[in-house]
Amino acid sequence: MYPAHRPRRLRSTPAMRRMVAETTVRPSQLVLPMFVKEGATEPVPIANMPGVLQHTRDSLRKAAIEAVEAGVGGLMLFGVPEHKDAVGSGGIDPDGVLNVALRDLKAELGDETVLMSDLCLDEFTDHGHCGVLDEHGRVDNDATLEIYGQMAVAQVEAGAHLLGPSGMMDGQVGAIRSALERAGHVDTGILAYAVKYSSAFYGPFRDAVESSLQGDRRTYQQDPANVREALREVRLDLDEGADMVMVKPAMLYLDVLRAVAEESDVPVAAYQISGEYAMIEAAAAGGWCDRRTAILESLTSIRRAGADVVLTYWAVEAAGWLR
Ligand code: PBG
Repeated sequence: MYPAHRPRRLRSTPAMRRMVAETTVRPSQLVLPMFVKEGATEPVPIANMPGVLQHTRDSLRKAAIEAVEAGVGGLMLFGVPEHKDAVGSGGIDPDGVLNVALRDLKAELGDETVLMSDLCLDEFTDHGHCGVLDEHGRVDNDATLEIYGQMAVAQVEAGAHLLGPSGMMDGQVGAIRSALERAGHVDTGILAYAVKYSSAFYGPFRDAVESSLQGDRRTYQQDPANVREALREVRLDLDEGADMVMVKPAMLYLDVLRAVAEESDVPVAAYQISGEYAMIEAAAAGGWCDRRTAILESLTSIRRAGADVVLTYWAVEAAGWLR
């Protein structure tokens, strides 16, 4: 009698495979990142991210309602300001594009979804770095923390439920937590980009936010070669009061995601970034893979590696398939 074991039995029909599936993806586990462009009178397609738009205030509102109706778990907002300056003033201005958009969505959706905001300076600075620069042109960690604290308060007062600091400054979670506590916003949480690698795959996003970055972010984002460092970042953020931790990018760092999921005692998110999105879209457009199967496989893999929540530009479409 050979073979004695036949694993294929459990794969024999769709119903059988469904019954024994270990990993599932639910719409409520997906978060949609969205861009809003100041002064735009019409939504602008993002060339390197087919299907993704820079929204106007109005189209953002409509798309957000649609996303919530599709069942996605939350929205992550990014602002594209009309004017940028050296210190990223648009980020702390209550009338800055991101804060205005948060206020719009809060008025529209209340607590029906989880409103998250990117808490970082790169969208708002004319040099494109995630922090302010010192007199030598280096990113000044502690001066940046001061501004992050002010941004945090502005975003919460505009309606954010969860803040997403993505600048990789040391001590950012602690600085934001204490700014929130001082302002009385004790119930607003922090989704810490605890582990964020310096990745070539952010390319399309930088177009999406019209980034003017010269050079790279290697003095603050992590080296793709390291995983021990990622675990240290997670421990520090948990220590400083992170309510959730995120790993980014996702697909190229599934081993890191697994390690973080084992270390973390708070929910873990993963960000399937713009370049990961663009790669699959390009392959599908070329007829090199089946688009829907590839997207669902990528989301399943990110969940299987340990993510409780996945930020993905396909959130709405995938939610439709998964319902
Ligand atoms: C920084 C930020 C970035 C992304 C999210 N927040 C870009 C960067 O560090 O250059 C990238 C998201 C993506 O590529 O989809 N504010």
